[in-house]
Amino acid sequence: MSSVAVLGCMWGDEAKAKIVDYLGEDADYVVRFQGGSNAGHTIVVDGKKHVFHTIPSGIMYPQTQCLIGCGVVIDPFSIIDEIEALRISGVEINNRLVIDERAGIVLPIHTEMDRQAESRLKSAKIGTTGRGIGPAYADLTARSGIRMLDLKFPTYLKKRIRELYAYHNLELSREEMEQLIAKLKAAWQILKPFVKAVEPILHEARQRDEQILFEGAQGTLLDRSWGSYPYVTSSSTIVDAIGIGSGFSARHLDKVIGVYKSYCTRVGEGPFPTELFGDLANRIRIQGNEFGATTGRPRRIGYFDAILAAYSARLNALDSIALTLLDVLSGIPELKLCVAYRINGKLLTQVPSHHLLLAKAEPVYLSFDGWDEDISNIRKLEDLPVNAQIYLQAIEDTIELPIEIVSVGKERNQTFRIPQGGTP
Ligand code: IMP
Repeated sequence: MSSVAVLGCMWGDEAKAKIVDYLGEDADYVVRFQGGSNAGHTIVVDGKKHVFHTIPSGIMYPQTQCLIGCGVVIDPFSIIDEIEALRISGVEINNRLVIDERAGIVLPIHTEMDRQAESRLKSAKIGTTGRGIGPAYADLTARSGIRMLDLKFPTYLKKRIRELYAYHNLELSREEMEQLIAKLKAAWQILKPFVKAVEPILHEARQRDEQILFEGAQGTLLDRSWGSYPYVTSSSTIVDAIGIGSGFSARHLDKVIGVYKSYCTRVGEGPFPTELFGDLANRIRIQGNEFGATTGRPRRIGYFDAILAAYSARLNALDSIALTLLDVLSGIPELKLCVAYRINGKLLTQVPSHHLLLAKAEPVYLSFDGWDEDISNIRKLEDLPVNAQIYLQAIEDTIELPIEIVSVGKERNQTFRIPQGGTP
């Protein structure tokens, strides 16, 4: 398998980075294609935690090229911080990181607009990460956005920034403009060696049959069209975004792996039919360290929702599943899977298109006995407690796909394969 996509299939934070890291050892390229610094990808190597926001997780393997496609929006100052942090950790990034020339830029005005919109909306707020993602994508769609290669042309850049402010009916004093241009010029000096066109690199890699891993950010249920709009992010997060955001058509993919947690979490506002409150939610939150990698916000917790899981499997044409954080469920006496919704008295197995209806959904559950054993040292399906095996089987049956990878802890080596879904 030379091209594989690893996609988050719920509301993000499915531990995708861990799966990318697991598969990434043999990858020649790891590619981001959407989102921006709203993502928080955590991997733990030899007990040391590394958090990435825009740089692909593959950067931890010295031979892997990391590409950031044009579908990603780049905050130049935040990516410079990531580059610096990697250098301090001794990770060599020269000639290993490429940022697409066409990628859009998140400017301070976008971060400001994001924060203002959230405080203005109050009752209808989205609960964004405050990273300026929505306003930056909106400007790109409105053709008032700034792109990476614009930084190379300071006179043109100044004109574009002036037009951008005018488009938003905002004033920028001469002094403020000079300061912003000076900061962007300095950023360009640091970023320039990394800025290239990604599409030809991927095209040639494909011709040479090299291993390419596409790393999704956020999750299918946060997709701008298919998520619970408006409680979504501003990019498309499904498999088809790969072609749009990198130039490597999704038609060329050999395999698509969907990453699901063994339970559900969500950060920010929006409907969450299987949401749990009280002791069980707290216990899972602590055990699973369910606090946002970007904002530190406590994540909302819920039972596994097989209706939403099957929906995202369809949208992404998944081949198999990677199931993460199974160890977190040890010691919970009863587990539940949501297999239908009751909405206004009707039984449904489809996802309603309007968030107001999804918010009304009462979950219909199947119940399972839990297990007490610590499973963090287990590396084979057949060594898992029988009740854990039954739980996995029920997830496979409801999503109608094989579970190919299981993860039982934070460390690189706490992941194992179930030899049935074919190897990428
Ligand atoms: P934005 O992407 O910052 O505009 O936030 C929009 C919604 O997506 C909010 O509910 C965020 O909490 C959520 N979101 C954005 N990025 C992530 C992520 O990486 N993981 C989980 N949720 C995210």
